[in-house]
Amino acid sequence: MRIACCLNSDATEWRDALRAALPGASVETWARDASPSEYAIVWRPPQEFFDTQPRLKAIFNAGAGVDALLNLRLPDGVPLVRLEDAGMAEQMADYVVHAVLRHVREFDVYESQARGGVWKPRAPRRKADFPIGVLGFGVLGEYVARSLQTMGFPVHAWTRTPKDAIGLRVFTGDAGLEDFLAATRVLVCLLPLTGETRGIVNRRTLALLRPEAYIVNVARGGHVVESDLIEALKEGRLAGAALDVFEQEPLPSGHPLWDQPGIAVTPHISAATLREESVEQIARKILAMERGDPISGVVDLRRGY
Ligand SMILES: NC(=O)c1ccc[n+]([C@@H]2O[C@H](COP(=O)([O-])OP(=O)(O)OC[C@H]3O[C@@H](n4cnc5c(N)ncnc54)[C@H](OP(=O)(O)O)[C@@H]3O)[C@@H](O)[C@H]2O)c1
Repeated sequence: MRIACCLNSDATEWRDALRAALPGASVETWARDASPSEYAIVWRPPQEFFDTQPRLKAIFNAGAGVDALLNLRLPDGVPLVRLEDAGMAEQMADYVVHAVLRHVREFDVYESQARGGVWKPRAPRRKADFPIGVLGFGVLGEYVARSLQTMGFPVHAWTRTPKDAIGLRVFTGDAGLEDFLAATRVLVCLLPLTGETRGIVNRRTLALLRPEAYIVNVARGGHVVESDLIEALKEGRLAGAALDVFEQEPLPSGHPLWDQPGIAVTPHISAATLREESVEQIARKILAMERGDPISGVVDLRRGY
């Protein structure tokens, strides 16, 4: 069995980890003149990679989101498999819980007061007054929603297809979006970026949120219309936002989001791919495929996630 690693960084580390996990396989980093492989592990590969791989049985994406890959011409009929959690859910929950608590408990205000030598307690705020709506209730969205619930926040979620979730209301589809937004004061985006979800956080949807809403975007920059977000902030309709992802990354210097009051910027670090956990998951799935067993995490190319 031949496996090609085509990642834009750390490809040799991935190759070595896969060799250790699958001792019977021939694992190589991709080279233009290499023999065709049966399995590919990719992260942001060039189109040429797929054009020179006629024998693939499966493509494993070294991340949860496949939006960038779907812009390429993928070989027909070859399953595309994404990472499922692999250590990302816990990181995502850490990030979102921190962002929400920082806002709700006003730690951002105390940080700036402390820089000015100001000792000034503020009135306590109740978690019940900060209902959180999580866009997307998949592998990451559900873990994050449950973590926020454990912290004592009222939480609800929004999905494409109906879901039964104990102790948590799930709104569904276009018909459920307005009610979902009307119930939300803190909006957390954990959707995949697809034709349907691009630009979903925009002037219209922001206006449907509860007053003084707060946005946490940890999915993709394309979900948020950045100019609409800035406008809502300037008009005082939004309290602020924690943004980990942007339409253009790195966020260009001089971009208005850098120094917009109320905005916390991080450089796409909310949930990094962890090599050890990812290789273990991918190796397990390759062995299952070789035995002819079904695997999870196969992307539905028509719906885009
Ligand atoms: N910033 C980072 O570092 C980072 C790291 C990892 C992942 N991510 C992002 O997080 C995203 C989510 O990952 P995941 O593993 O949780 O994905 P997932 O398991 O596929 O879950 C996606 C969720 O979004 C819902 N959804 C998709 N399209 C929808 C639509 N049109 N309307 C309503 N709901 C819709 C799905 O609904 P159904 O349940 O009905 O299918 C599902 O609940 C990834 O695609 C990626 O972009 C970001």
